[in-house]
Amino acid sequence: MFIVFEGIDGTGKSTQVQMLAAALQKKGHEVITSKEPTDGPYGKRLRDSAETGRLSPQDELDLFHLDRKEHVTELINPALERGATIILDRYYFSTMAYQGIRGFDPQEIRQINEAFAPQPHHVFILEVPIDTALTRIGGRDGQANEFEQREFLEKCHEIFAALPDDFITRIDASQSPEEVHAAILAKLP
Ligand code: TYD
Repeated sequence: MFIVFEGIDGTGKSTQVQMLAAALQKKGHEVITSKEPTDGPYGKRLRDSAETGRLSPQDELDLFHLDRKEHVTELINPALERGATIILDRYYFSTMAYQGIRGFDPQEIRQINEAFAPQPHHVFILEVPIDTALTRIGGRDGQANEFEQREFLEKCHEIFAALPDDFITRIDASQSPEEVHAAILAKLP
């Protein structure tokens, strides 16, 4: 199984990745968890630039794709080939949303990615009201003013909300972590 968590910042994705991994491991699955951007060299450049703000939107988009290509080749495909379950914190739907906001066409981004990145079996989009997300990330993103951040997260949410696929489930992530986890488990075989 290939499972992906998506959503705007502050929705609690990483907590849910860990809870789901533990639950599936208990059932005897081999479970691998990972995230994008990765901790590899391209991911590191992306994280550094998030702090210093030096990359152009095009360079940033290119780096997300390089990072993902490496992730697919080195981790995702080998895990799927040997029948492991892989759970990701963000994948190419985040590129559609976040780089979509920076002026790229989300559908074009999707095509570029689906040419090399396998489609997941399940995508959980965690949703919280923007105010909740802003409160949760409060300390994390000091530079942007609240208005800019609100507008950014709203646009991001809209791109996630417009994704039409059957393999996507939207989860109300304003509930407790345990309730969110239960809602996710209920959607899995
Ligand atoms: P995030 O999961 O929030 O990482 P951290 O644990 O460091 O907070 O991801 C970092 C940021 O990267 C997040 O704001 C979304 C952004 N991002 C993109 O812009 N494009 C992408 O393709 C991905 C995967 C992430």
